[in-house]
Amino acid sequence: MDGITDEPFRLIQTQIAKPDLMFTEFVSAEGISHGGIKLYDTLLFSSQERPIIGQLFGKNPDSFYKSAVILCELGFDGVDINMGCPAKTVTQNGSGAALIALPDLAVEIIKATKKGINDYFENKVKITDLDLNKKTLEVINRNKKYSNITGKKNKPTISVKTRLGVDKSIIESWASLLLDQGLDFLTIHGRTLKQAYAGTADWSEIKKVVDLAKNTKTKIFGNGDIQSRLEALEFCQKYGVDGVLIGRFACGNPWCFKNYTATPKERFSAMLLHAQLFKEIFPHRRFDPLRKNFLLYASGLPNAKQLRSKIVHLNSIEDLLQLEADFLT
Ligand SMILES: Cc1cc2nc3c(=O)[nH]c(=O)nc-3n(C[C@H](O)[C@H](O)[C@H](O)COP(=O)(O)O)c2cc1C
Repeated sequence: MDGITDEPFRLIQTQIAKPDLMFTEFVSAEGISHGGIKLYDTLLFSSQERPIIGQLFGKNPDSFYKSAVILCELGFDGVDINMGCPAKTVTQNGSGAALIALPDLAVEIIKATKKGINDYFENKVKITDLDLNKKTLEVINRNKKYSNITGKKNKPTISVKTRLGVDKSIIESWASLLLDQGLDFLTIHGRTLKQAYAGTADWSEIKKVVDLAKNTKTKIFGNGDIQSRLEALEFCQKYGVDGVLIGRFACGNPWCFKNYTATPKERFSAMLLHAQLFKEIFPHRRFDPLRKNFLLYASGLPNAKQLRSKIVHLNSIEDLLQLEADFLT
């Protein structure tokens, strides 16, 4: 999730309650294939997080081809294509959920991504064939070192994450088209683009995709409004999905993957660990974006309002320790 599931977040999630599968924040295919070296921070991962899927968004098939090669070189277990983001900044460029209205382009993007993966594993293309500049190649090597990648890994899965439609559900025709592309898995968020995050996810529409996929090799994951692993397992039973993705409820709440409610002390410990990992992994970054994560960890705590008003002024790990001491005594 953009701005949330960065490397410190995923390391903490792994320690507290490792999900079966994790995704990076989405990253622009155009960006990583055209020298956006800062974006490579988004693609840092540690081996204990596996299986780890790298998620791409964009609108240019050639960038997806290149990005698929890059994700293979970085040793990802899967390449996921975002066709579900409703943010205007993404959809106005024809990316994310806007691709639901551009089915020919969506198919081209999937084909280009597949070709990138296949060409890489059939030795038809190497990372050095992509015309990446020297700085980008250096940052790719930095990432590989961080992730302990020495040679080629297994071929990654290819998948799509999408929504029911643009302003109304067209899930049967849209999912049929996607299922024809031979994806390894397909995730459906049970809302339309127009709904963004309003209303509730319509799982009966997700169930239609489960039925359509019965004679295909594609696994179906459902997404929307799930609050715990227990609830996810119930929904697998009830709707026949092969898996469930949990998004917002895991933000600041890594315990949801083990059906556990954390104590205030445990929440502060997670904040502190998050801050320490952030400083260690991204020493060049500013501290203030971390406050967003702290606010998420703090939600649900007693006196949350008062706590939030303090969190927005934190500037250092020392400030956080002081806040913990004040709050817990
Ligand atoms: C802040 C935020 C960032 C998100 N970033 C991404 C993203 O990068 N990629 C993606 O596929 N979905 C992203 N999503 C959507 C979620 O993955 C998920 O589909 C949606 O929140 C519904 O599931 P939930 O009810 O479990 O949260 C984001 C959602 C939020 C609120």
